[in-house]
Amino acid sequence: MIKVLVTGGAGFIGTNLIEKLVDKKYEITVIDNLSYGDINNLEGFKDKINFIQHDVCDYDFVHKILDENFDYIYCLAAVASVADSVRRPYQTHLVNQEAIINMLEYLRINHLKPNKFVFTSSAAVYGNYPESPKLEDGRVHPITPYAIDKYATERFVLSYGNLYNIPTVAVRLFNVFGPFQRADSDYSGVLSIIADCLLNNRTFTIFGDGEQTRDFVYVKDVVNALVYIAENVESRDVYNIGYGKSITLNNVVEKLEQISGRKINISYQESRKGDITKSLADITRLKNLGYKAKWGFEKGLSEYWKSKNEKSQY
Ligand code: UD1
Repeated sequence: MIKVLVTGGAGFIGTNLIEKLVDKKYEITVIDNLSYGDINNLEGFKDKINFIQHDVCDYDFVHKILDENFDYIYCLAAVASVADSVRRPYQTHLVNQEAIINMLEYLRINHLKPNKFVFTSSAAVYGNYPESPKLEDGRVHPITPYAIDKYATERFVLSYGNLYNIPTVAVRLFNVFGPFQRADSDYSGVLSIIADCLLNNRTFTIFGDGEQTRDFVYVKDVVNALVYIAENVESRDVYNIGYGKSITLNNVVEKLEQISGRKINISYQESRKGDITKSLADITRLKNLGYKAKWGFEKGLSEYWKSKNEKSQY
C-alpha cells in the first residue's frame, strides 16, 4: 500500500488533495492543527484517513510521524495569507519555513527517502518585476515575509534534494480557488470572498483600484498537477502551477456577476502593503512534462459558484 503524508490536509488545497488521494486508495496520514483548516472538510473521508490534530511546529512530534516512512510527502501546512505575514512576520516564518527545514533535516539525518517530497511555494516569490509571464528561471523579488519564506524554503527543499539525494520538488502556486476555500476572514483568498459577498448580499471591498491582475487556477487542476508531479517527475526542480492567463480583479467580479446573475456592491480602499500588481504564470515547463489541465478558469469558476450555491441551501 502506498503511504502518503499530507501536512495541512484539512485546509483548502489539502482537502481537495485528500479527496483525490482517497480515490487512489492510498494509506493517508493528515496532520493539521486546524488553525486554518476545518475538520468538517474531512467528514466524508474520516474512515479512510488517519487524521492527527497537531502543529507541524512541534518538531519531535513530526519526527515520530516521519519514522513511518512515507512514499509521498505533501507539505501544505502554511499560513497562506501574504497580508497576515506582514502583520505577524515571525510566527508565519516558523510555519512557512522552519517547520519544513525540520522535516528535511530529519529525513537527511536518518537517511529516509520518500519517493517524493513536495513543497508548495508561491507565485508571490516573483514580486513586482515587470517581466510577464513569470518563468521559473526568471528573476524573483520576494517583498513580504510570506514571499521570502516561500522562496528561501523552496531553495532549501531543492538543495536538500541535490546535496543529500532526497527526491524533492517545489511548486509555485498562483492564485488557487475552488471548493473548501474559506471566506470568513480578511485573509481569505479573494475569489472566495467575492463569492461569499455575492451569496450573502454583502459589500465587497477592493484594495486598490481593482486593476491588479492574478492568474487564477482552479483547485482541481492544482491537485491533479500536484499528484502528477509527485508521481511522474524525476527532476529536482521548481514548477509554476497556474492557468497561464491573467485577469484583473475588476473583471473577476464581472465574471462572477455574470455567472451568478447577481450584482455585487463594491467599495474601494487603499492598496494592501506588499501587494503585487501583476501576476501571470508561464506554464510551459509543466506542460512539457505532459501535464494537461482539465478545468481551466471559466469552467472552474462556474463549477465553484454551483458548489457554493448548493452548499448555502442546506
Ligand atoms: C494569494 C494566496 C497565497 C498565494 C499567492 C500566489 C490566499 C489568501 N493567498 O496571495 O497563498 O501564495 O496568491 O500568488 O489565498 N483583495 C481585495 N479584497 C479582499 C481580498 C483581497 O481587493 O477582500 C485583493 C488583494 O489586495 C490582492 C488580490 O485581491 O490584490 C488577491 O489577494 P489574495 O486573494 O489575498 O491573494 P494574494 O495576495 O495574491
